Amino acid sequence: MSKDAYTLTNADGSSSMELPVHKGTVGPDVLDIGSLYREQGVFTYDPGFVATGSCSSAITYIDGVKGVLMYRGYPVEQLAAHSNFLEVAFLLLYGELPTASQLEDFNESINRHTMLNEGMLRFFNGFRYDAHPMAMLSAVVGSMSAYYHDTMDINNPEARKVFAHRILAKLPTIAAAALKLNAGQPFIYPRNDLSYTENLLHMFFAVPAEPYEINKIAAQALDLLFILHADHEQNCSTSTVRMAGSSGANPYSAIAAGISALWGPAHGGANEAVLRMLEQIGEAKNIPRFVDKAKDRDDPFRLMGFGHRVYKNFDPRATIIREMCHKVLKQMGRTNSPLFDLALELEQVALKDEYFIEKNLYPNVDFYSGIIYRALGIPTSMFTVMFAIGRTVGWVAHWKEMITDPGGKISRPRQLYTGPPQRDYVPVDQRS
Ligand code: ACO
Repeated sequence: MSKDAYTLTNADGSSSMELPVHKGTVGPDVLDIGSLYREQGVFTYDPGFVATGSCSSAITYIDGVKGVLMYRGYPVEQLAAHSNFLEVAFLLLYGELPTASQLEDFNESINRHTMLNEGMLRFFNGFRYDAHPMAMLSAVVGSMSAYYHDTMDINNPEARKVFAHRILAKLPTIAAAALKLNAGQPFIYPRNDLSYTENLLHMFFAVPAEPYEINKIAAQALDLLFILHADHEQNCSTSTVRMAGSSGANPYSAIAAGISALWGPAHGGANEAVLRMLEQIGEAKNIPRFVDKAKDRDDPFRLMGFGHRVYKNFDPRATIIREMCHKVLKQMGRTNSPLFDLALELEQVALKDEYFIEKNLYPNVDFYSGIIYRALGIPTSMFTVMFAIGRTVGWVAHWKEMITDPGGKISRPRQLYTGPPQRDYVPVDQRS
């Protein structure tokens, strides 16, 4: 990172200071305000981190204006076309694409960590039959620190590696246990002879009563969705993982915190919310009414699956998923999907609407992913869990980068205090 400087002068010109400027490999320059409070006695104010970099990172790059997304320098379009999820996972975790033997070892290691401790599996007996799978996912991932003590030393590289492989391997198994609980069906153990997404489909849909045939197109579609969801730099859940982990908390707790942050409808919960919104809209004739509601500032309703903090042109993942969506529906013989037709109609109406054009609101990754999940038979309440399975590797890569950063600090933002100034305590019998 080369350095430049930026001069900051106050309004009356009575004081100024030089702020170092950091230059990334690509992207805008970044002002280093670390010494601002010490030298000038002021904080910066940026609710929601709209213009604030919280860390430096070598994992993922996004240019929101040009619609660019790269993992470790590789455009996501190339990875989506030529790679597979576990190879992308290796790339995110270790910085380079694996050699053939590295990939073989990595696949083997992930395959060997798919089973859950039986004690942990019994946790599911305690949840209500209709518990939301995201609630179960965050609780069970949080509880992993009680079972896998060999990975609790965050300063030990081998422990970090085992943690990374273990959580990546076990997330589909935990997700499947949650799905089976909701379905009232017996848990299906993982099969290590299957690929990552084939095994996931097997655990989700197989039943002991009859053989289950894995649909190759479904496995391919999931693999692609996981590649597209694998990382997205400092998004809400990843920043949460970094923040929770910055205290030195065990890595399972940090990931559980990320899962909880992902659940919100403004973030990963949007894919579930899109489907529920489309069902609520019901028919194309109702679209204008819902678009008007979304535009009404006094109405909290928003068009789910539209808008993004960073992408102000288009979401490159949405373009890839849109195509995949057509392919999946066609290949699975569901060419007339009323829900997909409704989604396409809504997309067209919104893209032509002045409000959405002016505010640069385009369909995001979550707009189409739910339609694919629905076509694959995945229950709506599992959609955000699917996002979490894909994103786990990104969370782990960021956690690892944060923990191994020699200049790393506990995350501790400052604030603009707007409460009462100092006042004296009044005993209860003297209060009016
Ligand atoms: N429908 C209607 N209006 C919207 C929408 C929407 N989906 N999204 C943003 N706007 C409006 C806002 O009301 C705001 O209007 P204003 O200028 O009159 O105040 C303006 O567009 C800018 O929006 P902000 O909320 O300030 O943008 P921000 O970057 O904070 O939020 C977010 C981005 C959270 C994604 C937002 O667009 C949203 O809530 N979208 C719907 C939920 C969604 O799809 N989330 C998934 C995001 S992708 C992901 O996490 C994987």
